[in-house]
Amino acid sequence: MKFSGRNILSVGEFTRAEIERIFEVADRMEPYAHRRRITKVLDGAILGSMFFEPSTRTRVSFGCAFNLLGGEVRETTGFESSSLSKGESLRDTARVLSGYSDVIVMRHPQAGSVAEFASASRVPVINGGDGANEHPSQALLDLYTIRKEIRHQGRAGIDGLSIGMIGDLKFGRTVHSLCKMLTLFKNVSVTLISPRELSMPADIVEQLRRAGHNVVESDNMEQSLSVDIAYATRIQEERFASLEEALMYRGRYRLNKRVYTQFCKPNTVIMHPLPRDSRAEANELSDDLDDNPNLAIFRQADNGVLVRMALFVLILDVVDQVDLHARDVNWYTERRF
Ligand code: CP
Repeated sequence: MKFSGRNILSVGEFTRAEIERIFEVADRMEPYAHRRRITKVLDGAILGSMFFEPSTRTRVSFGCAFNLLGGEVRETTGFESSSLSKGESLRDTARVLSGYSDVIVMRHPQAGSVAEFASASRVPVINGGDGANEHPSQALLDLYTIRKEIRHQGRAGIDGLSIGMIGDLKFGRTVHSLCKMLTLFKNVSVTLISPRELSMPADIVEQLRRAGHNVVESDNMEQSLSVDIAYATRIQEERFASLEEALMYRGRYRLNKRVYTQFCKPNTVIMHPLPRDSRAEANELSDDLDDNPNLAIFRQADNGVLVRMALFVLILDVVDQVDLHARDVNWYTERRF
């Protein structure tokens, strides 16, 4: 198991033991992510943060994770503020920016673009989402969240769980990565709930089946929600040929208090990678569930910092030095976690 200097491009690169190691290190990051301790283990290190698609959680939590370890962040957001808009290639950009950074996280609208960038980079590159392809750090934080939530309920682990994924499974890269990661576990029941036109790509369904999982595909959400984890997603309208086409699906599935109470198990954990589309015509995950203790979406977003800190200390090979460069914080931190 070697993490130092490694790119994180696809969940297919991980073994189960590596995922468990990432989770173990993420647990150790809690005092820092929860602002009880401060560490300067990455003092002097620079994260190149390059986001060529909109992002709130991934961009900011990668940046926070690096700052919490004592490092600095240099951000490029949007094509218009980059020389990619002048025709510079991804490979030239990578060659140059990797001279300015110790590690780079990148989001880009084209599938495979981050891997192309990484092939010319002189420092490790983390895929922050490449088109409809993958979002590996999201899958890690999703699985980390599932593990925490079910442990909180007194259950053992991910093996044997049932999970329903709801919405745009064709273009949703978070569910692509999550399914691929689930193939490392045993006896998972996966219910894929989507309009037929937005179903999970066949190769991913096949990977789940080859792993021995029970996979059911359905376009009827209400009849398919007897699961341990209900994972809702947004219609990825930016990936459709036209907005008109995307609008045909907006609001097709709405997980709300009525549906949850009537069709889910009492302890079903509700997840969503966020952003949820809260416009009235969409409302795929209603805020009338916000008081439900099984709504894990904001804990899920918080967990992103822990998992991303873990990736940085593993890739930059400083896991055992984090606590050596640490002290208690001296500002107000109560109430946050
Ligand atoms: N979950 C996720 O990728 O959110 P952002 O698009 O806000 O980064």
